[in-house]
Amino acid sequence: MNTEAKENEKIAAAVMGYGTIGSGVVEVLEENRDIIAKKTGKEIEVKYILDLREFPGTPVENKIVHDIAAITGDPEVKIVVEAMGGVHPAYEFTRACLMAGKHVATSNKALVAACGTELLQIARKKQVNFLFEASTGGGIPVIRTMYRSLAGEKIEEITGILNGTTNYILTKMDRCGQTFESALKEAQDLGYAERNPEADVEGHDTCRKIAILTAMATGKEVNYEDIPTEGITKITDVDFKYAEKLGRSVKLFGSSRIEGDKVTAFVAPVMVGPEHPLYAVNDVYNGIVIKGNMLGTSMYFGSGAGKLPTASAVVADMMEAAVYSEENIPLGWTEERLEIEPLENASFRYFLRISGNTQSGKERVREVFPDGEIVELSGYSEFGVLTSKMKEAEFNEKKAAISDVIGLIRAE
Ligand code: HSE
Repeated sequence: MNTEAKENEKIAAAVMGYGTIGSGVVEVLEENRDIIAKKTGKEIEVKYILDLREFPGTPVENKIVHDIAAITGDPEVKIVVEAMGGVHPAYEFTRACLMAGKHVATSNKALVAACGTELLQIARKKQVNFLFEASTGGGIPVIRTMYRSLAGEKIEEITGILNGTTNYILTKMDRCGQTFESALKEAQDLGYAERNPEADVEGHDTCRKIAILTAMATGKEVNYEDIPTEGITKITDVDFKYAEKLGRSVKLFGSSRIEGDKVTAFVAPVMVGPEHPLYAVNDVYNGIVIKGNMLGTSMYFGSGAGKLPTASAVVADMMEAAVYSEENIPLGWTEERLEIEPLENASFRYFLRISGNTQSGKERVREVFPDGEIVELSGYSEFGVLTSKMKEAEFNEKKAAISDVIGLIRAE
């Protein structure tokens, strides 16, 4: 028996963008060096860090480069991490790396949602991998679960709380009566929020993530701009008072419902009760429910944002690339474009707030929504109704018959 310890093969890597995630990747590679080497049989060494800044006096100062050519032109570099954020120049740099025959792992949902189809195509042509586990659900391994563990499933629904910042804000508003602004400030201080928090609170970040999950589920390219998107900026403390009376909470969902070749998708706040699996997903955590035709319901839960959870998912992709260094892993995402059905065809319950608190007003609402549950808040000159489930088109018609609607949240 040969008892000589086998030397691990060394693989050079580069990190583009030394911000929260990029520096997290370097930290995870360092901290878990032994376990990574043991599991892959390879030692991943960061050779270059591409950034506009210098980082003098830090352990990475000698690795900093400012020209992408240093990375694309070095045949030793096999794996590149893209952690720059935004679409440009992340797209141009990622494309250049793939064209140069390097695997790329990214945490950048904006890039994947906007250019995923093309970058995957280039990766296939070049027999390398374009991997994006960290782009959706932060540290939750949902992308790999979809292309490996759920590969034999026909996915029927994906519904997720996909944005840590908004989940943090909604949880603080629900549990602590905190204002939107103070909760957002806390989420920003904790490093969860996007550079521009509008992307979080207006639902754009969730939109890109549900677009990526829908592409993974259907195998088709999804134009994220086709997904009706509503954020949480209109949700108020009064909505949470009603939700409390109804034993419910409000969560920002990104969702796709897939029936045969008909797909509806949306991003919107949804009022849910404790029977919903995502009701208990609070704070910065993300949760994703996936329904498959054979599997039934499954749920994935974990840290959806933050430096180390996200970096951990990037490192897992780097390890996947290190192990499958000579082949392109089929992810099933093709160039065929997915048509998204109008949201009018989807069914929900609806929570409506109506101004005034007269008997005649309530009777009118009972006529329009005979199965609706009326809810009142003492001291408020308004009331609410939670309707039964119906198609959005039918709901819109009924709603037109009620004047003085001052608030509307979809419900399940
Ligand atoms: N701003 C994002 C969030 C970061 O809060 O979920 C992770 O994608």
